[in-house]
Parts: sequence; structure tokens; C-alpha cells
Amino acid sequence: MFSSLLLSGFLIAVQPSTLGQRAEVDSILLDPSLLIPGRSKCNILNDINPFMPLSCHNTTVQKNLCCFNAPGGHFLQTQFWDYKSPVAFAGPNNSWTIHGLWPDHCDGTFDQFCAPDREVQNITQILQLHGEGEILDYMHTFWKDNTGNDESFWEHEFNKHATCISTLEPECIQNFNNRNDVVIFIKRVISLFQILPTFEFLKRKGIVPSSTQTYNFTDIMNTLKQATGKTPTINCNGRNKQFLNELWYHFETKGSVIDGIFTHADADSDSGCADTVFYWPKGLPTPTPITTSSAPTPTSTEDKGMIQVFTSAGANVGCILSKGTWSQQTCATFRPVAGSVPRSIKFTSSKGPCAVDATNGTLSCGSDITLASDFTNSTTSSGSLLAYNGSSSFSSDVVPTGIVQSPVFIGDVHSQTSLHYLKYRSQD
Ligand SMILES: *[C@@H]1O[C@H](CO)[C@@H](O)[C@H](O)[C@H]1NC(C)=O
Ligand SMILES: *[C@@H]1O[C@H](CO)[C@@H](O)[C@H](O)[C@H]1NC(C)=O
Ligand SMILES: *[C@@H]1O[C@H](CO)[C@@H](O)[C@H](O)[C@H]1NC(C)=O
Ligand SMILES: *[C@@H]1O[C@H](CO)[C@@H](O)[C@H](O)[C@H]1NC(C)=O
Ligand SMILES: *[C@@H]1O[C@H](CO)[C@@H](O)[C@H](O)[C@H]1NC(C)=O
Ligand SMILES: *[C@@H]1O[C@H](CO)[C@@H](O)[C@H](O)[C@H]1NC(C)=O
Ligand SMILES: *[C@@H]1O[C@H](CO)[C@@H](O)[C@H](O)[C@H]1NC(C)=O
Repeated sequence: MFSSLLLSGFLIAVQPSTLGQRAEVDSILLDPSLLIPGRSKCNILNDINPFMPLSCHNTTVQKNLCCFNAPGGHFLQTQFWDYKSPVAFAGPNNSWTIHGLWPDHCDGTFDQFCAPDREVQNITQILQLHGEGEILDYMHTFWKDNTGNDESFWEHEFNKHATCISTLEPECIQNFNNRNDVVIFIKRVISLFQILPTFEFLKRKGIVPSSTQTYNFTDIMNTLKQATGKTPTINCNGRNKQFLNELWYHFETKGSVIDGIFTHADADSDSGCADTVFYWPKGLPTPTPITTSSAPTPTSTEDKGMIQVFTSAGANVGCILSKGTWSQQTCATFRPVAGSVPRSIKFTSSKGPCAVDATNGTLSCGSDITLASDFTNSTTSSGSLLAYNGSSSFSSDVVPTGIVQSPVFIGDVHSQTSLHYLKYRSQD
């Protein structure tokens, strides 16, 4: 038996602890293969300086974003339990696998693909150039793409998320060379993953994969909460969201992701699982009702994502924000659930359920909305095209620029701008 912890040496004592006790994770790593090949330009003492704010908790504007993570100050170390993938792509049957490390804004929204010029297409070569064969082997075991294309999955994670980490920008690295920012990111992800051995956390409480036994979701949540002292986001897929499959652990930081401190934080989004769940063994066929459910929920595998705005020519021109307005600057996070009629979908943002206002036809999301509107969706290559009341066009009075947000109207009533389309895209 091996576990993610033992494979590359022991880094940090990970003991299950009672709530709140283990607030901070020391990021100084002892295992030589995980030593970070670079330093920040920050005074390391900043990290223990009581006046150095925790990301997302600053009360004044922080000017040096090389030493303070912003706007992405809330980090998610995301993991998969890939029970449905072919065994060869699912990772060890006694370990969860790495998805990535995502910088969310402090309100659950997030940026993505922040620096096209820093995107990479050769992570394997970069690791080899840096003599990181051991890390590469580790990644082929624990950072698995469920279709077998590990390299492109790693590239996707770096290009989409790591480019949005302010403290990882090349100018923030003291000895930036040969794309060591990529190696630094990868080692930081792995070192966080290693202090979060989900399989072990659950096993200690007798929660192990089984095709016959189901578990009380509250027990799973409490077990994982105890492990870090903070609430994670646990997501399930399959029929009625009954199958554990993804887990997000949350952090905030002091200083740089390169050599600063990661502190466990509470989830910025809700979990999505049934009250009773399966922790299905990897490689075992799932029971037929799961794969051939007679009434599939349209959103069974998609738990969180964004609603993007497209022109009729297919250009992506921003996203819908949490209140339901349109912005070209940033994207909010939406959680889709099955709508009240078959093949329909409803959304909730951090502000609340989303609905089309009956009097003026605008889209809005808020806690005062009691009934979310049903949208129908049809799958396209770049996401799910949304339609309301039979129409997939949306319009606005003005195209938003900069920090401007525009209300979105259903249909073509406000066609000062050309018609636009909305697509839901999962965060995976
Ligand atoms: C925290 O710092 C960020 C980055 O400088 C800034 O955008 C944000 O407004 C600051 N928050 C507060 C409450 O000052
Ligand atoms: C993993 O697979 C091995 C070899 O097939 C098997 O002996 C072991 O019981 C499995 N472990 C789990 C947790 O399913
Ligand atoms: C990776 O690709 C970039 C861009 O094509 C290239 O400049 C760099 O030399 C490559 N690095 C390695 C190690 O192959
Ligand atoms: C799960 O456990 C909690 C707390 O022990 C209990 O309140 C709840 O009823 C249980 N749920 C199910 C579905 O058994
Ligand atoms: C959209 O509908 C298709 C079926 O038409 C479904 O397979 C897909 O999961 C749906 N997507 C979302 C985000 O609901
Ligand atoms: C539409 O109506 C809602 C509710 O009455 C209101 O909150 C919203 O501001 C209106 N939007 C526009 C663009 O008039
Ligand atoms: C749906 O569209 C029809 C016209 O096609 C319109 O009469 C009706 O009021 C619309 N319903 C809603 C809820 O917007």
C-alpha cells in the first residue's frame, strides 16, 4: 500500500485534528524533490509579520501584488475521485487525484487565462529541463487526466489558472529562468495536495470505497472538516448527485504562493451532494441505473461554472456577474441545477437564485428571488447555449466596457447592441 503522502517522502505531519486547531499550514517543505526552484522578492519575514494581511482580509489597498495575492486571494486545491474513468486514467485506487490550484476572487468569482503570452505547451520538457523527472512520474500517477492526456490537462490548469496568480508573475520571481514559474506552480500544487490526503482522512473514520455501502453525507463532511478545521466544498455527480467525485479545499495566503504561508479557509461555495452518497470504488462498473437514468438531470456532472456572453458571430465578450448583469471584466460563478421541466436548467449565483423579471424582462440574481427561472439548454462545442421562453437571444442597451456593467434583457427588445447569446460553461 502506498499513499500520496509516503510516495515522495513525508512533508508535514498531517493529523486529523479537532475543529479550528490546525489553522495554518507551514509551506516550508522538507522533501528535496519538492523544494521550490525559485524565491519571491518578498521579505520572508513579512509572512509572520502580524501586520501583513491575509489575502482577502486586507483593510487597505495592497500595492505590491508580488507579495500579496489579489484579486485572486482565495485558493482552491481541487481533487478528483475519478471512479468512472478507465482504470488507466483514474489514478491509484487508494488515492484521490489532483485537479489543480485555482485563485478565486474573495467573492467566489474568478479570472481565467490571464496571460496568453505566458501560456505553455511543453510542461513535460520544462520539467525535464529542470531535472524534475521524479515530479513528472509523480504527476503521471497523481495528476491524471480522465481521458489519458495528462500533458494537456496540466497545460490547461497552468494556462487557465496559474496565469491569474498575481504573486507568480515572472517579475515577482527573484531568479526567473527557463520557465521556473511553471515548476514552482506545479510543486506548490503537489505540496498542498500532499497535506490533504483525502483517502486517508476518510479511511481513518472507516469511510472507504464500497459498491454496497452508502454513507451519510454529513459524516463525510464532518470528517473532512475535522481534518483541516475548515469547511471544504464536496461535489457529487451521477444520478441525484449521489456519487462522491470532487473536492475543493480552500486557502488564503500570507505573502507569495512561492514562499509564503497557506492558511486553511472556509468554502466560498456550497457543496452539492445528496444526503446519502456512494463512495464508489474506482474501476468498478457503476450500476446501470446511474448511466442510463430515465430522467437525467442536465447538470449531473457540472457543479460550478460561468455564464459567458457571445456575439452572434461567436466572439466571447465577457460574462454574467453575480447580480445578473453583463461585464467584460470578470466572470461570476454560477451553480446550475435541473430546472422544473425536463431538459431545463436553473442557476444560482453567490447573490441568490437567478430569474427573468416578469415586468421588465431583465435577468437578475438575488436573495429576494424565490423562484429561479427555467432556461433550456442545448450543447454546443463551447458550452451550453441558454434559451429563455423559446428564444436564445439576449440584448442590452450598451456594450459594457471597463468596470461598467449592463443589464441583460431577454429577447431583442433592447437591440441597440446586436443580439447576444449566453452559454453556460462548467469550470472543469
Ligand atoms: C485589498 O487589496 C486589493 C489589492 O490592492 C485591493 O484591490 C482591495 O481593494 C483591498 N481591499 C480593501 C478592503 O482595501
Ligand atoms: C486496489 O487494487 C488492489 C489490486 O487490485 C486491491 O488489492 C485493493 O484491495 C484495492 N484497494 C481498494 C481500496 O480498492
Ligand atoms: C517550451 O516552449 C517555448 C515556446 O515554444 C520555448 O521557447 C521553450 O524553449 C520550450 N522549453 C523547453 C524546455 O522545451
Ligand atoms: C446523517 O447524520 C446526521 C447527524 O448524525 C443526522 O442528523 C442525519 O439524519 C443523517 N442523515 C441520513 C440521511 O441518515
Ligand atoms: C445541456 O443539455 C444537454 C442535453 O441537451 C445535456 O447533455 C447537458 O448536460 C446540458 N448542459 C448543462 C450545463 O445543463
Ligand atoms: C427590472 O425590474 C427589477 C424589479 O422590479 C428591478 O430591480 C431592476 O432594476 C429593473 N431593471 C431595469 C433595467 O429596469
Ligand atoms: C414568452 O414569449 C411569448 C411570445 O413568444 C410571450 O407572449 C410571453 O409573454 C413570454 N413569456 C414570458 C414569461 O416571458
